[in-house]
Amino acid sequence: MKVIGFNGSPRKNGNTGILICNLFNELEKEGIETELVQLSHKKIHGCIACYKCMENKDQRCAVNDDSANEYIEKIMRAQGVILSSPVYFLDATPEMKALIDRVGFVSRSNGGLCRNKVGALVDAARRSGAMHPLDTMGHFS
Ligand SMILES: Cc1cc2nc3c(=O)[nH]c(=O)nc-3n(C[C@H](O)[C@H](O)[C@H](O)COP(=O)(O)O)c2cc1C
Repeated sequence: MKVIGFNGSPRKNGNTGILICNLFNELEKEGIETELVQLSHKKIHGCIACYKCMENKDQRCAVNDDSANEYIEKIMRAQGVILSSPVYFLDATPEMKALIDRVGFVSRSNGGLCRNKVGALVDAARRSGAMHPLDTMGHFS
């Protein structure tokens, strides 16, 4: 079994990174393979609403100028997906929102590619009681 985690923080070894490491350690103790993607290391931009994924239905984003399709392929190969982000003004970071929009639209255009995957969310915030922006993951599949 494989779990892929996406860190939406621009700080590779920041609070979000520490939380994911702790989570990965527990998964690895159970013999689960893990892979971490630092979203800030490569370009990913938001959905341009071309709706071509709905026409093509080829499990890919029609816009091929960034890492979105690479991440879709990684998610397809994993059984579990962890989305983790610091809270930025009551939301996830722009990089994480771009991932959710791009993967989510391709998934929905292809009958729910992420439907049978196990998902988990990790948020890091400065104030306790901050909202959990990644609750949008419920719409990811
Ligand atoms: C641009 C920006 C916006 C932020 N907005 C919030 C916020 O709305 N609420 C909050 O509790 N913390 C906010 N923070 C603080 C971060 O969520 C917090 O420091 C987090 O632990 C950073 O995680 P990281 O070390 O993985 O980057 C913000 C930080 C930045 C840089």
